[in-house]
Amino acid sequence: MSQDKSVQYRVLDGMATALLLFDARLRLEYINPAGENLFSVSARHLLGQPFHALIEEEEELAEQMRSVLAEQHPLTRHEVALGLGNQPRAMFDVTALPLLDPGQPRELLLELHPVNRLLKIAREEGKQAQERTTREILRGLAHEVKNPLGGLRGAAQLLERQLESEELKEYTQVIIDEADRLQNLMDRMLGPRRLPDRQPLNVHSVLERVVRLIQAEERDGVCLERDYDPSIPEVQGDADQLVQAVLNIVRNARQAVDDESGRIVLRTRIERMCTIGRQRHALAARIEVIDNGPGIAEDMQERIFFPMVTGRAEGTGLGLSIAQDIVQQHDGVITLNSVPGHTVFTILLPIQ
Ligand SMILES: Nc1ncnc2c1ncn2[C@@H]1O[C@H](COP(=O)(O)OP(=O)(O)OP(=O)(O)O)[C@@H](O)[C@H]1O
Ligand SMILES: [Mg+2]
Repeated sequence: MSQDKSVQYRVLDGMATALLLFDARLRLEYINPAGENLFSVSARHLLGQPFHALIEEEEELAEQMRSVLAEQHPLTRHEVALGLGNQPRAMFDVTALPLLDPGQPRELLLELHPVNRLLKIAREEGKQAQERTTREILRGLAHEVKNPLGGLRGAAQLLERQLESEELKEYTQVIIDEADRLQNLMDRMLGPRRLPDRQPLNVHSVLERVVRLIQAEERDGVCLERDYDPSIPEVQGDADQLVQAVLNIVRNARQAVDDESGRIVLRTRIERMCTIGRQRHALAARIEVIDNGPGIAEDMQERIFFPMVTGRAEGTGLGLSIAQDIVQQHDGVITLNSVPGHTVFTILLPIQ
């Protein structure tokens, strides 16, 4: 072991997160004490073993590790079910970091964070309850503002008819226009006014309607790509409401990306055995809206589904809150994963 390495290892030894270092052939070179704790065996029994013998997994994690090494791209995956050594499977957040020292063979540093699922569910439920409460308050407010607004607009119209001077009519027109603007805002705050009318529907018909709407909004717009899995079974959903939800997300992506190099991908996949809140579903439709815009700052990500949270000067901050409301009414959920240049909004809709 070189001098450098032993210093490196001493630093890693002291870390509280589980760290595993693999060589270019994915054999374990080093594991820190926090890692040994996760495996419940000492490093002696683990060193030199290949990845697949150490970590049991359903998905192609080993394959992904190989491409991390080959392409020198870090990778983070959330909530992957792993069986470490002889332990029962548990959930982990996994980060893989390629290490490339000039003149040294490639190595890969793996970081494993156990996910406490119940704690996570409780935290998510708390956040959703907060979001719901905020939406309810806003709905109440919108309702209160809407009632007198109709009267105000009507009175301005009556007044306008009595006025002779065109100059004075400009003032009543201001009242009418502003009342209309406020009315639209209040309608959006009220959100979908009815429960979803669920019919069997193909998610791609929803996405195609969104594509047409987005394309109609601009002549030579950015590149909207489709990456569909045509075998997805139908979901039970309200087509109009789901179009609204997806449209809000795609519009945001469109506003975030660059006119020239902007790229938005609509991706669909089947998700097996997924958990939404406390509910386990054998099958779900997964719809992803991926864009290559600047991404969303971490502190913003926490709050983004709350109503009235916006990062745009002309934004009302209602789009995502409405989208989340609609998807939750369909027993689904929208989640977000964003780093600069790669933002993914994922809609999961259970398939009955
Ligand atoms: N794909 C994205 N990339 C970067 N930022 C995003 C993306 N999607 C949403 N955001 C940020 O999240 C904020 C909230 O989005 P939301 O759709 O709820 O409201 P809005 O777009 O500001 O207003 P509205 O949709 O009501 O007109 C946006 O203002 C923007 O800052
Ligand atoms: Mg928006």
